[in-house]
Amino acid sequence: MESRFLKWISFTSLLCVGSCVLAERKVCQGITNRLNLLGSKDDHYLNLVKTYSNCTVVLENLEITYMEQHRDLSFLRSIEEVSGYVLIALNTASRIPLENLRIIRGHSLYEGAFALSVLANYEKTTGQGTTELLLTSLTEILKGGVKFRNNQICNVETIQWFDIINTESKPSMELPKASSNSLCSRCHTSCFNGSCWGPGPQNCQTLTKLNCAQQCSKRCKGPSPSDCCNEHCAAGCTGPRPTDCLACRDFQDDGVCKDSCPGLMRYDPNQHQLVSNPHGKYNFGATCVKSCPHNYVVTDHGACVRTCSGNTYEVDEGGVRKCAKCDGLCPKVCNGIGSGELTHALSINATNIGSFKNCTKINGNIALIHTSIHGDPFTKTPKMDPAQLDVFKTVKEITG
Ligand SMILES: *[C@@H]1O[C@H](CO)[C@@H](O)[C@H](O)[C@H]1NC(C)=O
Ligand SMILES: *[C@@H]1O[C@H](CO)[C@@H](O)[C@H](O)[C@H]1NC(C)=O
Ligand SMILES: *[C@@H]1O[C@H](CO)[C@@H](O)[C@H](O)[C@H]1NC(C)=O
Ligand SMILES: *[C@@H]1O[C@H](CO)[C@@H](O)[C@H](O)[C@H]1NC(C)=O
Repeated sequence: MESRFLKWISFTSLLCVGSCVLAERKVCQGITNRLNLLGSKDDHYLNLVKTYSNCTVVLENLEITYMEQHRDLSFLRSIEEVSGYVLIALNTASRIPLENLRIIRGHSLYEGAFALSVLANYEKTTGQGTTELLLTSLTEILKGGVKFRNNQICNVETIQWFDIINTESKPSMELPKASSNSLCSRCHTSCFNGSCWGPGPQNCQTLTKLNCAQQCSKRCKGPSPSDCCNEHCAAGCTGPRPTDCLACRDFQDDGVCKDSCPGLMRYDPNQHQLVSNPHGKYNFGATCVKSCPHNYVVTDHGACVRTCSGNTYEVDEGGVRKCAKCDGLCPKVCNGIGSGELTHALSINATNIGSFKNCTKINGNIALIHTSIHGDPFTKTPKMDPAQLDVFKTVKEITG
């Protein structure tokens, strides 16, 4: 189980939606707990509120689980973009308000296949469950499929999913069946092709792909050739320019959608070499930024990441935290006997030796006793092959 608590970054960017507005976009990390309940249902709810409140862009996944009938879910209304997947499962709240969610990028997929999973939001014993899933702004899923199972949600079976998903990503689809709930209302008569997320004209599905003129390369805002969106747009647009997009397919740079951020280096034809580009920017999710937000590290490729990975480790270079290549094995600090999870262990043994893999520094002690090798039936410690002691080859320093 992995829980990523609240990491707030706030940055201002010029967004042009209809007219140009200076919009505050708040980015939050999101969660990866899948179907795990974090503590009690109250704790779980408070964790969700803390993670997603006021968040516009979710960098990882949006997971809405175990939400009961009496919970106030209005904090979900701020969410517009999700970079990973959306999981809505095991809820009994009658309405899930995600009216402003426009795009799911699907950089990570639930069960390796689904960008949107809506699972078991219905309790047979009590008959309680979710009936309204209002995804009225959702017009783009860049990668991955859609899975609906064991729900009693109204209207979702009318949705034309092929307007939303990207068929080039060969998505798996498990589409919703009509709810047997007799309280469901039909879509409003004004809805195109009878597709809606809920009753009333405000909940009709907005088509931005299937109904476009042939000339359009990707999305459109209406059926006429002049309604085509710029090719860098995702979700839809309010006009033809790359500044009129509802969301960007790749990157957003000061309100303009582009296929990449301005590079940190550029070729100087006079010097015949790469020189640093004063207008260069870093990739941060789907946004170009002048500097990485607090708590993020810069990689060689000019991206902001949470932790250095691969053969790199974190260094401070003139106040900028960067990922640098390791000389040989990357430094790795491990707990020895007497610290961390080995606080109560008496010695190295077959059960804990695995935790010393690739360590270069050990905080604590190394104790090898008879039972280390021969095991101990009393504490149920198995025998250990002395060849396993090879893991200590990488150790350069022991603090204890
Ligand atoms: C969300 O924003 C509002 C208004 O700016 C603020 O009052 C509130 O405390 C914020 N909530 C959280 C959980 O950050
Ligand atoms: C509208 O629905 C009809 C019948 O279900 C279908 O053949 C047609 O393709 C739909 N139109 C669009 C634009 O999806
Ligand atoms: C063996 O390792 C386990 C896990 O660290 C520890 O709980 C146990 O006490 C150890 N046994 C001995 C005899 O040190
Ligand atoms: C140890 O390092 C090797 C080589 O860098 C790497 O392939 C392996 O995944 C690492 N194992 C652990 C447990 O850190």
